[in-house]
Amino acid sequence: MDGATQKMMEKEHGPMKTERGGIVVLDFGGQYTQLIARRVREQQVFSAILPCTTAIEEIRKLQPAGIILSGGPSSVYDKDAPKCDPAVLVMGIPVLGICYGMQWIAKTLDGRVEPVERREYGPAQLDLEQAESEILANFPRTMRIWASHGDNVLELPKGFHLTAKTANAIAAAEDPKRKIYAVQFHPEVNHTERGTEILRNFLFKVCKAEPKWSGAAFIEESVEAIRRKVGEHRAICGLSGGVDSTVAAVLVHRAMGDRLTNIFVNTGLLRKNEYEHTLEMYRERLRLRVIGVDASERFLTQLKGVADPEQKRKIIGREFIAAFAEEAEKLQKGEAHGDIKFLVQGTLYPDVIESVSVKGPSATIKSHHNVGGLPEKMPFALVEPLRDLFKDEVRRIGKDLGLPQEILVKHPFPGPGLAVRLLGEITPESLVKLRESDAIVTEEIRRAGLYEKVWQAFAVLLPVRSVGVMGDGRTYGLTVAVRVVQSDDAMTADWVRLPGEVLERISTRIVNEVPGVTRVVYDVSSKPPSTIEWE
Ligand code: XMP
Repeated sequence: MDGATQKMMEKEHGPMKTERGGIVVLDFGGQYTQLIARRVREQQVFSAILPCTTAIEEIRKLQPAGIILSGGPSSVYDKDAPKCDPAVLVMGIPVLGICYGMQWIAKTLDGRVEPVERREYGPAQLDLEQAESEILANFPRTMRIWASHGDNVLELPKGFHLTAKTANAIAAAEDPKRKIYAVQFHPEVNHTERGTEILRNFLFKVCKAEPKWSGAAFIEESVEAIRRKVGEHRAICGLSGGVDSTVAAVLVHRAMGDRLTNIFVNTGLLRKNEYEHTLEMYRERLRLRVIGVDASERFLTQLKGVADPEQKRKIIGREFIAAFAEEAEKLQKGEAHGDIKFLVQGTLYPDVIESVSVKGPSATIKSHHNVGGLPEKMPFALVEPLRDLFKDEVRRIGKDLGLPQEILVKHPFPGPGLAVRLLGEITPESLVKLRESDAIVTEEIRRAGLYEKVWQAFAVLLPVRSVGVMGDGRTYGLTVAVRVVQSDDAMTADWVRLPGEVLERISTRIVNEVPGVTRVVYDVSSKPPSTIEWE
């Protein structure tokens, strides 16, 4: 993570967290960090991920019941190995170190850690020691666990006792006096037997956390935190029509009423009838204050002749910011009298890690235009009430906020919209073809009762011509690819085995109803190695 991003995360993160008695997960860049936080929340205990470098005062302010130190890809001996302030180990707040977290604890407290020749990765057997353990109490003598580490703890720091081993390594240890616990394996992944129980023992027996986190509690806490943060000032929010920005806006609206103005930009790249329909829902059903900006012309002009995917994304990102900034400025100069100080964004946790290149979890694969772009351009502080959550958690919050089902179950839609589903140059004619095809896919998926069962279902227009025959004539038209995927969080996805009849209806309808399309193919690739969107 670069310094500026980190500063922003720390600055923006701190004041939003109000929940006392939750768990702070300090991130060393591990691939499972977000899973840890999620597992904790599944136990109805609030948890938030903070960079490992977060200042100790910031952590203390949150009054957590416990701290979990995540895993990470580094060796504690690397030159730039991530570190926490060692003071986290002497605050009197219980600490659980997982994998790298354990190694960092051992090294910091003068134990001995050494790189091993062969990285232990994958399933392993855990053998429990005949020793008192608070987090492994009453477990079977042997268990299957999931490990992934390159360093080994060879000698435990003073005060610690061994509680479990694998064939090759110290696997768990604790110092109950100082309330420091450590495991070399990953209790948060499903492959570790009774992993949830280990976390539960830490949460409830050691930290004495209360299982009080719920959608209602989150809403109440967030509303309070937002009020404290924004004071009497105004805020603006860019709505996309999707569930994330809508939930964020409704939450913030609850905190500050009509001092929040929302802006909904029609990029000309939305789905069929989406602009009008969504605008009406925002205004009539959710009673949000929304300015609708139809900037389709502007986007399409700028995209003329551009075929390169990253180039398209960049142009859309830039134009979106420009259109948004112009509206914001009009508002600021007009009725807001310079009082807009905050920008609301519906950023979720996966957006943060897919966009910020943190050393470890994930590199930037595609430039998502809805994260990270706006703040530098505009003098607003960010309000991102959903930053720690996953999509399914946001949907639950949305439900608790009383949002219509239609929006809660809506499939995710990329910020750059149909542009990344229309390969090659975007023209008004090709957009019509894609929009119509896409509407057919959605209609048929709904009709088959599958809409709420799949993660996304959409059409992609390919600039590939092939020969067809319709009636007595030869045709030579374009190809539509249909993509339907299942996923939990969009980080991985599998293609859906659609019933043949559904595929048949989609294919027949597209070829018959969309002029210029002669062929329909079904995308049978999973993520990874493919991505969900084609561009
Ligand atoms: P990929 O194609 O990276 O997509 O597998 C993962 C998920 O993210 C959505 N997506 C985006 N969402 N802005 C967004 O808000 C974007 O630029 C963007 N690109 C992809 C995609 O629809 C899928 O759900």
